Amino acid sequence: MKNRKQAYHIETEKGLINDPNGLSYFKGKYYVFFQWNPNTTDHSYKVWGKTTSQDLIHWSEPIIALQASEAYDKDGTYSGSAVSDGETLSLYYTGNVKREGVRYPEQCLAQSKDGVHFKKYGSVLSLPDDYTGHFRDPKVTKEDVWKMIIGGQNKKTGRGNIIQYTSIDGTSFKFNKIIGISKQYEMIECPDLFTLDAHEVLIYGLQSRNNDTDECLDAHAVYLIDTLSDLDKGMHMDEGYDFYAPQTFVDAQGRRIMLAWMSRFSDAQEVEFAKDGHIHCLTMPRELSVKKGKLIQLPVREMYELCHEIPYTNHMKIQRQAMIEISPLEHISFSINKELSIHFNEGISIERYDWAEQKYQKKSWPIKINHMEIWLDTSSVEIFANNGEFVYSARLDPQAEDLLLASSKESQNINVYRLEI
Ligand code: FRU
Repeated sequence: MKNRKQAYHIETEKGLINDPNGLSYFKGKYYVFFQWNPNTTDHSYKVWGKTTSQDLIHWSEPIIALQASEAYDKDGTYSGSAVSDGETLSLYYTGNVKREGVRYPEQCLAQSKDGVHFKKYGSVLSLPDDYTGHFRDPKVTKEDVWKMIIGGQNKKTGRGNIIQYTSIDGTSFKFNKIIGISKQYEMIECPDLFTLDAHEVLIYGLQSRNNDTDECLDAHAVYLIDTLSDLDKGMHMDEGYDFYAPQTFVDAQGRRIMLAWMSRFSDAQEVEFAKDGHIHCLTMPRELSVKKGKLIQLPVREMYELCHEIPYTNHMKIQRQAMIEISPLEHISFSINKELSIHFNEGISIERYDWAEQKYQKKSWPIKINHMEIWLDTSSVEIFANNGEFVYSARLDPQAEDLLLASSKESQNINVYRLEI
């Protein structure tokens, strides 16, 4: 069987994973929780999975942290966040409750003192009257007051809002204000709001739904800086194919770190990957900053410690965990097996091989690229260009055991690194 097993991305051996949840640094360890159907490779059932790490590179075997077990979360423990105050890890999540096919979500709390045993405390916020059953993904922070922001579909407009609630102790929340509204998109998922480099940053998913059939049509992750009220003005977080539901947290060193779900697969793409008995992964951890009104993403510095340079020669072969650095001073094309090719000209175009349709998917941007890092794992690529201003994430279906690197001409401006994990 084809090997797609990732070496440094979080994935599970069984079932389906989606959104990262409850990202936190607690009692000396990094915690990543995530949406997980541990039984099969579809979205029919969700628990919170958990994995921990000391270094953001090596992750413990995923286990179940929050099962759907109570009346207030009986149909799934949906996405949410964590507050780590040093003593207690508080998890806020959406309890998915359905009665006769209708959603009645509850926003719920579970706490732990040791990061191992989680005690559920039930609902801290029930569905308000102005919102439909699409009301989920609480992101909670604790400063002078506790704040929760959440994505909800307004009943009157049928469109998505981000709403803020506050609490004095984190156990029951009251309406505070509307942060932003959409006039185009039927739902907003997984909002996150924080201050970074003296700017307010709001990240969220814009989702199109058919309100008659209650079907999800499309979704993509965007962000706003400082002016947050018009959610339709969100700028793309990622130019690739597989990136959604990003979430951030601050670590002990004060870094704003983000992980996202690395999938927007088509149904046909899922069929092939699901043959492995498990499907999807998370992105590598990225550090965020704000420069000149843009959100900048770069791999956390721990990733660079894995890089061991080997001399580049055209048509060389290398193991699949690799980083390639290109500073294109000329028009040049660069390809990685038949899986990906990048063309640097006045702007840039990238072609990714779609394993389901068996043809290339091409996108072009009118941006001059002066520096690019291409991070490869067994079955994924993450590209960071112009110091993290341009990001492109996509899964790749391995067409060979190794990577064959080829450029359209000899170049002094390509560096290749083997990643030792
Ligand atoms: C986003 C999302 C969330 C929800 C979760 C369910 O991908 O739809 O809104 O909480 O996935 O798994």
